[in-house]
Amino acid sequence: MDVNSIRKDFPMLNKKANGRELVYFDNAATTFKPTQVIEAEMEYYTSYCANTHRGDYDIAYIADSKYDEARNIVAKFINAKSKEVAFTSGDSMSLNQIAFGMAHLLSEDDEVLISVVEHASNVLPWYRVSEITGCKVNFIPLDEEGNITEENLRKVISNKTKVVSIAHVTNVLGNVNDVKTLAKVCHEFDAWLVVDGAQSVPHMKIDVKDLDIDFLTFSGHKCYGPTGIGVLYGKYHLLEQLDPYQLGGGMNASFDTGCNVKYLNAPTKFEAGTQNVAGAIGLARALRYLDEIGMDNIYSYEYDLKKYLVAKLKELDTVTIYNENTPTGIVAFNIKDVFAQDAASLFNKYGICVRSGEHCAKLIHNHLGVDQTIRASVCFYNTKEEIDYFIEICKKGGDFLDAFFD
Ligand code: ALA
Repeated sequence: MDVNSIRKDFPMLNKKANGRELVYFDNAATTFKPTQVIEAEMEYYTSYCANTHRGDYDIAYIADSKYDEARNIVAKFINAKSKEVAFTSGDSMSLNQIAFGMAHLLSEDDEVLISVVEHASNVLPWYRVSEITGCKVNFIPLDEEGNITEENLRKVISNKTKVVSIAHVTNVLGNVNDVKTLAKVCHEFDAWLVVDGAQSVPHMKIDVKDLDIDFLTFSGHKCYGPTGIGVLYGKYHLLEQLDPYQLGGGMNASFDTGCNVKYLNAPTKFEAGTQNVAGAIGLARALRYLDEIGMDNIYSYEYDLKKYLVAKLKELDTVTIYNENTPTGIVAFNIKDVFAQDAASLFNKYGICVRSGEHCAKLIHNHLGVDQTIRASVCFYNTKEEIDYFIEICKKGGDFLDAFFD
């Protein structure tokens, strides 16, 4: 993998921040976009800008075929069939679509299992569906490292469990859950396994058939693609059982004055209204870009960077790391006696972008034993030189806040 050549594809990496080279370590929040993606989106707006599956003229046909091709590319990327892939506005909408779409299948005797390390997007829709249907939301215990193990899932799953909804890679600690094994356990109990792939799909090879998971959700913007586009994958017979969460044009076959509506089949029934056509095309281009580098190369490069970052941080006695063993590019840590947000502001002064706070995962505190963390999340365009520079700033240690005035 030639990182210097890759970096040239990302215009944002040429930006300065506070007069310094920008060092972007917030890739779990969103990723920069390569020129190829920006150009693919721009081409839609400048060459064949039309609505999809509505127009009977040439540019509309081009838009139709590019949008359909984008679905095929997304499906191939995760080894799904095209008809098993719906476009959404992002991972949050995909998870909401699943939760609200299956509400009609849930009752007060049923249970949904999640965990305390889930992002708000994989907690709050289930809470709301619980209010509506009376079903219970319960929690799978974590092991000491924050993983959901087969053993712990078996402790809580029962015939009441209708769905288990968990992150593949968790967004604060970067644990990788063994969803293939967990899927087998779920299926023994006829429960569906929903996998939030927001933090896994951009960083490792995903094969939904091999994993045998029932649903997978992810966002385009974390995959080096545009904002406002996301993906909902589901096994087709399960997608057929979900009600659409949004209704409108493009997703219905017919309706009449008697309130009778006939929906189109999945995945179209989940795509009400004018779609984010440019976003879908941009996402497809981003996934092709990732494929060209190779997901296995990306995974091993990023994990190697994380190990390097952890090793360097461990040399500092002012730093507490919360996830040194998780095998992804996320490092959650704190600097002794420094509030996480103050640290992030200081890093910003030196051109470094990290995230601080609760990272939208507000149930994780008891597990971690702290309220706030600093999160550095690296990806394949980051370098060890950037990490060395970052470590120099971390070394400001005891006089950390004085460093604002350096
Ligand atoms: N979900 C994104 C994060 O974890 C925003 O930072």
